[in-house]
Amino acid sequence: MSGAAVPVVAIDGPSASGKGTVARRVAAALGFHYLESGALYRLVALASLRAGLGAQREAEIAALAAALAAEFLDERTLLSGEDVTEALRDEECGNRASEIARLPAVREALLARQRAFRRPPGLVAEGRDMGTVVFPDALLKVFLTASVAVRAERRYKQLIDKGIRANLAALSRDLEDRDARDAARSVAPLRPAADAVLLDTTALTIEEAVAQVLALYRRRVGERTGGIA
Ligand code: DC
Repeated sequence: MSGAAVPVVAIDGPSASGKGTVARRVAAALGFHYLESGALYRLVALASLRAGLGAQREAEIAALAAALAAEFLDERTLLSGEDVTEALRDEECGNRASEIARLPAVREALLARQRAFRRPPGLVAEGRDMGTVVFPDALLKVFLTASVAVRAERRYKQLIDKGIRANLAALSRDLEDRDARDAARSVAPLRPAADAVLLDTTALTIEEAVAQVLALYRRRVGERTGGIA
């Protein structure tokens, strides 16, 4: 199977739209590899915070991105051998990730790294620009949305479940700010690819959203092969 022949399911959407959980489960159901591209941006954010680099230091942050010693294990993420799974999830890191994601040199530095995840038998990639920039030839592109209120509640619940204190109104404001920043940036803004299927998960359970993506995938494979998937 040549690189381009390896099927990709691209799942994009705003923060807390459920794309991480949905993408992970779709990958498990299909037996595909999984790329959480936001984790790469968060890793670069963490490395830049630790190096004391302000978000405007584009060349230095891009160099960090290019040299990043990242390892993705089942449930844990390592940076230069250190388990940084928890540190990556905090809001400071998420906000910094959104800031450095605006820098073209950083996005460029992460491009090849993301494409390297495309290996047989297939890849489920989730983020903001999987369908528009990183894998424009993805077999299926899904853009997940959900209302800000529902997304803020989901994020709130996730944090509380982990024993982290959170404030619903502040989370909601943060999500809106981050969406606005991700959608307004000039490089790879958050927007559905022209050929993406929009899936609003506001009123869906995770299981329902996963089932819908799998059904879309099977239909797409069936269309490609001209047979019944
Ligand atoms: O999905 P996430 O919240 O972990 O992503 C963190 C930030 O990284 C997000 O605010 C925008 C940025 N990002 C991006 O610009 N492109 C991607 N493909 C993934 C994430």
